[in-house]
Amino acid sequence: MDFSDVTEQFKQDLARVEKAIKKNYESDVPLIPGISNYLMNGGGKRMRPLLVLIFSKLGGVDIDDKAIHHACVVEYIHAATLLHDDVVDETTVRRGHETVNSKWGSDASILVGDFLISRAILLLAHDNNIRITRAIAEAARILVEGGILEFTHARRLDVTEQHCLDVVYRKTASIISASCQMGMLLANASPEQENAAIAFGNFFGIAFQLMDDALDYEGDEELLGKPPGTDFKEGHVTLPLLHLYSKSNEASRKKIERFVRNGNTTQQDFEWVLSRMRENRSPEYTQNLARSYMVKAKEALQSVAFPNPEYLDHAFITADYVIERYSPAPPVN
Ligand code: FPP
Ligand code: MG
Repeated sequence: MDFSDVTEQFKQDLARVEKAIKKNYESDVPLIPGISNYLMNGGGKRMRPLLVLIFSKLGGVDIDDKAIHHACVVEYIHAATLLHDDVVDETTVRRGHETVNSKWGSDASILVGDFLISRAILLLAHDNNIRITRAIAEAARILVEGGILEFTHARRLDVTEQHCLDVVYRKTASIISASCQMGMLLANASPEQENAAIAFGNFFGIAFQLMDDALDYEGDEELLGKPPGTDFKEGHVTLPLLHLYSKSNEASRKKIERFVRNGNTTQQDFEWVLSRMRENRSPEYTQNLARSYMVKAKEALQSVAFPNPEYLDHAFITADYVIERYSPAPPVN
């Protein structure tokens, strides 16, 4: 079984999620469905809804309307974070398309993000499961902290690897982990099963974002849906750049400091950084760290008994997909 078999097995449920996503942003204010359709039809892996579905099944329940609504909740929160993040970062291209902020302006991007969050809250209120509501609210709080930390520490090279991992945990792993936890809560799982799902989601989410950070340097435009080097141009000091900086001599460090401080780096600057990174194997270092987190993610599930253990394979294959999908050719030297 590979990842395409996983999505094939969940095809009908994912189609129901897709329908719920479209249905729940209906509004008589035309800009809301207009922008939401643009965003939701513009790609996206639906990784978080898929994890809700996999973990519900692992917990032994069938996918009912409640599970579909909750899968929709996590996708809405994710979409809202991207709408807000692209404003903060002034990003112009995402998933191969012009961003909403670039096409409609920042106000529209922020406000439609707010609409999706309010719809997510309404969907949660409909089922009124306090443990699920608390898990999602907590994840949203941590996620926003991650967004704010990234923004306040942009263009700074005096951060530690631990700081980078903390931001990665908050901005990405928190909602991924809540998606896994949500599956368990929908299944009325034991605290041990719930904690295992949370741990899996945390490690999986960190690995997911680290792969993304490595690919932002090493990936090609087709795979990324945006030109490589976006983090560098936006002044985000992610792990590959921090690794390179720590391995550089004084002259190179000064050059990197200038690039990071300067809001107007060129393609040539990026290419210089990329070739230094290849020499120092910085993307590889980041990917290896991602791999080690994914090993921990799998281990978190292995010592716990689940009602429907055949779905462990679905979780593991999804984990492998995150790592393998992105693996570029090894560096030549
Ligand atoms: C994308 O990371 C950014 C995030 C996952 C989160 C940022 C959080 C906020 C802006 C707070 C908003 C929160 C809510 C609940 C609306 P990235 O920049 O590494 O990914 P990218 O390359 O796809 O932009
Ligand atoms: Mg961004």
